[in-house]
Amino acid sequence: MTLSNTEDEYGYIAKIFHWTIAVLIIGLLPVGLFMGGMENSPLKFQIFAMHKSFGLLVFFLGIARLVWRFISPPPDHLESHARWEVTLAGAAHFWLYVCIIGMPLSGWLMSNAGEFPVPFFGIQMPTLVGKNESLGDLFYEVHEALGFTLLFVLALHAAGALKHHVIDKDETLARMTYKTKGLVLPVLIVAILGLSYAASGAAMLFGEDDEEEAAVATEKPGIPASAENAMPAADTSILPKDGWKIVPTQSKLQFQAVLYGSPFTGEFQEFSGIIIFNPDDLANAKADIRIDMKKVVTGDADRDKNIVGAEWFDSDKFPESRFVSKSFEKGGENNYVAIGDLTIHGVTMPLALPFTLDINGKTAHMKALATLNRINFGVGMGEWEDGKTVGTDVKIAIDLTAIQ
Ligand code: HEM
Ligand code: HEM
Repeated sequence: MTLSNTEDEYGYIAKIFHWTIAVLIIGLLPVGLFMGGMENSPLKFQIFAMHKSFGLLVFFLGIARLVWRFISPPPDHLESHARWEVTLAGAAHFWLYVCIIGMPLSGWLMSNAGEFPVPFFGIQMPTLVGKNESLGDLFYEVHEALGFTLLFVLALHAAGALKHHVIDKDETLARMTYKTKGLVLPVLIVAILGLSYAASGAAMLFGEDDEEEAAVATEKPGIPASAENAMPAADTSILPKDGWKIVPTQSKLQFQAVLYGSPFTGEFQEFSGIIIFNPDDLANAKADIRIDMKKVVTGDADRDKNIVGAEWFDSDKFPESRFVSKSFEKGGENNYVAIGDLTIHGVTMPLALPFTLDINGKTAHMKALATLNRINFGVGMGEWEDGKTVGTDVKIAIDLTAIQ
């Protein structure tokens, strides 16, 4: 047997490509199907990262395999193969190549569109498309549809190979394993052992999941009950002197967190507040901003659901975050610092927020950037606390337009 394909046998290189990709794909399919339904935990993100890394490995090997196929064409079909067998096998091989390239590519695009990391064994891959929730859903559909057709075509492909080996007793399988008939079986056994090894690795990971889940029920920091933090609603209908009203359609309250080394942004969709501000009367300035913690969007429906859940904002228990100023200081021109208390997740911490303010007649434009440590507010504790999966620092970007 040679490195290159010959007229009647696949060479070493084609065989190594075929069986490596086969083992990887047969491992990726069940892991892909199971991981989506797992409880949200760091382990789930580790399994996603492994799925993506091995999936990308298939992509790179697949491209190399196609290049090699061009350089060294496959052997002719056997004389004994019927016409319909040749056509069916050709169509199956074509579709298998579509899946070898299309599955990883759709996974990559889906992750990009949802602003999720795409790690290749620790190396972040470049972003091919920007954040776009409907595109993310579309690529998910493509990934899923390719996955199910792949399962079907693969079953047909393997059944065909076995039919040739067991019933027709021809060399179809032998020339993709080992031409010496006696060696077909040992080679297949090694391949099957490899597969079961991969499957048991996956099962072990899923086994660990139960232990991890048990570990989730760890203590949360002493968080005051939400009722104690209930505050009267701010009445913005009557504006006092120097009062400003936030224009929601022209204002943004965003945050950026880091998942597996890759940042994603989210937005608080509803917030309101009272702002009393006159640059010449800072002593009487006041800001009281309230944020609805149930209206958070991050560009992915699953992540949106998780983020308001008990492990993160716990928005059912703590439906509101609030910043109440105590005093204001002037910095440089148009620069101020709001000093006050920020309450998130029922925990109140002091905050000095530097901001810029441009007042143009009866319209004011305020911008601020801040970095908060989510641990100080008891957000994402237990197994998320170490910041390895989701970073502990969260950037906040405030961009408000208010009218007088
Ligand atoms: C139990 C698993 C598998 C068996 C027994 C098997 C068997 C074979 C055999 C015998 C051939 C040669 C066919 C011929 O000469 O006409 C072949 C070719 C091929 N197999 Fe598989 N295969 C398996 C899994 C896979 C998987 C998982 C993939 C990828 C998704 C795959 C993709 C291909 C492709 C694309 C070819 C055509 C190679 C070419 O001529 O370029 N196979 N397979
Ligand atoms: C040949 C390579 C791959 C195969 C065979 C494969 C297979 C699968 C399968 C069968 C699913 C389950 C789909 C469903 O929920 O019905 C899945 C899910 C997923 N795959 Fe892949 N995949 C591959 C490569 C990739 C790559 C390279 C990425 C990303 C870079 C990726 C990202 C994902 C994600 C994020 C999900 C979960 C979607 C969800 O449930 O939310 N996959 N994969």
